[in-house]
Amino acid sequence: MKAAVLVARAVFPEVLEKLAAHFELSTNQPDAVWTQAQLISQLQGKQGVLTTGSERVDAALLAACPALKICANMAVGFNNFDLDAMSAAGVLGSNTPDVLTDTTADFGFALLLATARRMAEAEHFLRAGLWSRWRYDMFAGAEVHGSTLGILGMGRIGQGIARRAAHGFGMQVIYHNRSRLDAATESACAARWVSKTELLQSCDHLMLVLPYSPQAHHAVGAPELAQMKPTATLVNIARGGIVDDAALAAALRQGTIAAAGLDVFEGEPRVHPDLLALSNVVLTPHIASATLSTRRAMADLAADNLIRFLVHGQAVTPLNPQILNGAASA
Ligand code: DGY
Repeated sequence: MKAAVLVARAVFPEVLEKLAAHFELSTNQPDAVWTQAQLISQLQGKQGVLTTGSERVDAALLAACPALKICANMAVGFNNFDLDAMSAAGVLGSNTPDVLTDTTADFGFALLLATARRMAEAEHFLRAGLWSRWRYDMFAGAEVHGSTLGILGMGRIGQGIARRAAHGFGMQVIYHNRSRLDAATESACAARWVSKTELLQSCDHLMLVLPYSPQAHHAVGAPELAQMKPTATLVNIARGGIVDDAALAAALRQGTIAAAGLDVFEGEPRVHPDLLALSNVVLTPHIASATLSTRRAMADLAADNLIRFLVHGQAVTPLNPQILNGAASA
């Protein structure tokens, strides 16, 4: 008998076709916004679900969906999963590492350039019909090439950004991470480990790429912003909640730092109103991995995890692989 699988959000039709060859498939192609209760109701009798970072899988959902065996996240981040509760319930979690690394690193760099060089602000000025003549200091921003980039969190995406910065833009790259990279990786990234204090105080641009965890909550708040240079820019492509958005808005308003580029927000899709009111911040709606080929690769990988697990009892990119030892095919 085919297992029952829910695809909780709209995805590529080709990916649905692939899944439909293996499963009794339920979908949400209109991309309806479900409450948690509606998600739980849709999950009744389902063995697998394809989620995005927007669907929360917690102990209450797991208790209410006893048939569930796998949640395949179409995202590398998985802070929407309570992985301990999933492991306790014998539910496998999977994510989509690697396939989005370079696309996301590209976007981090684009956001850094747009922020430091004031591109959004200048474009709004032009569109508003305010450009009357050239002026020597008009939208003069911060230098990117040759400056010092600080990276907080140095996983695959952080390393991709470091390589772009060092080899493409001649930047000095410093980083802080709980665990230091091995010497060969540091050398490939031309990156030097420093303490968090040195990182904050020395960088011209700070890029946040660390995964969200309760320990990382407000890793950058008022005390950290106060240590940065008044000319510094901050870029967050990691997760909302890593930055204290209210403190950041105050720092941007007061000139504690110069500018920020933000792709992720606390409580997104809501954005702190104080940020919306500022001109020295570039705001994008969580699109760092958004190219069609990368999003397709993410959807394919999530689908492959569902197929591999529910059909073959294995997984491609499991988050709690200990579950596989006790896994049974559907
Ligand atoms: C990820 O993969 O974690 C991106 O943030 C998309 O959600």
